[in-house]
This record gives sequence, C-alpha cells and structure tokens, in this order.
Amino acid sequence: MQRLHERRILVTGATAGIGEATARALTAEGARVVLAARRKERLDALTNELANSTAVELDVRDAAACERVLAKLDLDGAVLNAGLGRGMGSIQDGNVDEWNEMLDTNVKGLLHTLHAVLPPMVARGRGDLVLLGSVAGRQVYPGGNVYCATKHAVRAIYESLRLDLAGKRIRVTTVDPGMVLTDFSVVRFRGDQERAAKVYENMTPLAPSDVADAIVFALTRPPHVNVGEIVLWPTDQASTTIVTRRK
Ligand SMILES: NC(=O)c1ccc[n+]([C@@H]2O[C@H](COP(=O)([O-])OP(=O)(O)OC[C@H]3O[C@@H](n4cnc5c(N)ncnc54)[C@H](OP(=O)(O)O)[C@@H]3O)[C@@H](O)[C@H]2O)c1
Repeated sequence: MQRLHERRILVTGATAGIGEATARALTAEGARVVLAARRKERLDALTNELANSTAVELDVRDAAACERVLAKLDLDGAVLNAGLGRGMGSIQDGNVDEWNEMLDTNVKGLLHTLHAVLPPMVARGRGDLVLLGSVAGRQVYPGGNVYCATKHAVRAIYESLRLDLAGKRIRVTTVDPGMVLTDFSVVRFRGDQERAAKVYENMTPLAPSDVADAIVFALTRPPHVNVGEIVLWPTDQASTTIVTRRK
C-alpha cells in the first residue's frame, strides 16, 4: 500500500541532496510531489524520472515569487528544505554577503514559503509541514556562527508554528540532522571538492535517504499523531564538535 497515495507535497530544494532524496521517497509512497528549486535542468530531469511529479522554478529568497508560484498550489503538505551554508570562519573576519545569503535563504526563504503555503492549509483545516533544521540549531561549533544562527532561527520558527497553528489541525515537524553526505560542503566551500571531502573523511555520515526516511515516517503517522522533533546523528558523530574518524 502506498501510504501517501495522491497527497500533493511540495519539496523546496528538491534538485539535490536531502530534498532530492525526499522527493524520491515521497514519490515511492505514492505522493504527487511538487519540486521547487532554482536549477531548471535538474528540475526537468527529475520530473521526467519521478511519476506524478511537477516542478516550479523558484528562488525562495524572492518573496513575491513564492506568493505567486506557491499560494495557488493545492498542497496537502510541504517539506521546507531549501538551504545552504557559506564559508566557515570567525564573525570578526566574516563576509557580510555570505551572511546575507544564508539569512535570506535559510530564514527569510523559509518564512516566504510558509507565508505562501499556509493560508490554504489553514482554510482547509488540514496540512503537514516539515522543516529542515539541523543539529546546528541546537549546538554551535567553531566557525559556524551565522549558519548556526539561521538554524537556531528555524528551531524558533518551528516552536512558533506549533503555537500559531494550535487547534488548526496542521502538523509541524522539524527534522534536525547531523552530518549528511550531500553537496552541502561543496556549496559551503564554493566548489572546493578537496576541502569538502575532508569534512567526511574517515567517518560515515548520514545518507540523504536516511533523512528522507525520517520525513516519510513523520508524514505517514495517523492524523492524530504529530511527530514533533526528529534529531538524527551519524553514529560517528557525538556532537557538532566531536566526530570519530577511523583510520
Ligand atoms: N548536509 C548536511 O550535513 C545537513 C545537515 C543538517 C541540515 N542540513 C540542511 O538540509 C537542507 C538541504 O541541504 P543539503 O545538505 O541537501 O544540501 P544540497 O545538496 O546543497 O541541496 C540544497 C538544495 O537547496 C536548494 N536551494 C539552495 N538555495 C535555494 C534558493 N535560494 N531557492 C530555492 N532552492 C534553493 C538547492 O537547489 P538549487 O541550487 O537548484 O536552487 C538544492 O536543491 C538545508 O536546509 C541544510 O541546511 C544539511
């Protein structure tokens, strides 16, 4: 039995990593997935491959575009995953443009998406939201400052949604992973593959499909069950600063 049969679920940041794995897993459960991201050729390739999927080209930093494109979708659920890290260093040596890109995407982009998708869900009295937080929203680490601040903000938004949506029959979940092997570090270090590979050297990170599994779990519980917070660590990661590397 396909547990998400015919449910229409938006996935932002669906062209890579956790978002792509989630789109695949939701499709396998019978959902009609709406993929959103900026890279059109990747969106086209995925919609060709995934049954019952459609795509919208969207930069979540653009509030007007989020309203225009997302508000009219008749969604049963949304996985708010689009996000990125940029750089890693001290605040005193930080790059303001990188800070703005992280804040605009991870915090404001999340809010733009919520503002567009929530009103129809509230009107219908039904809907599921899954936010991609991070263990960086629970613990900081050296050089993580602004990225960690954005993920702490995601956690505050998760807690706020639970209060704002009380009694509205909308379930809200935050999925907070530790290290996941995706393009995240390549993007963070602007294409420096060697530096990105070092992040996962001699340890076993989570796979994007591990996170997708957790999202499917939350979305397939009975309507009276709201899975609130899922924290997923690689077994080799004890905290944001303690990683066991095996030679
Ligand atoms: N990897 C980890 O270790 C890890 C751990 C905890 C949490 N997370 C979180 O998981 C989420 C997904 O990251 P990932 O690891 O899967 O990274 P990824 O492989 O780099 O994927 C990021 C996705 O976000 C999309 N995106 C970025 N900026 C966007 C924008 N302005 N508008 C729309 N889409 C945008 C990208 O698509 P386009 O470039 O095509 O727009 C891409 O599909 C992020 O929120 C990240 O903070 C990651």
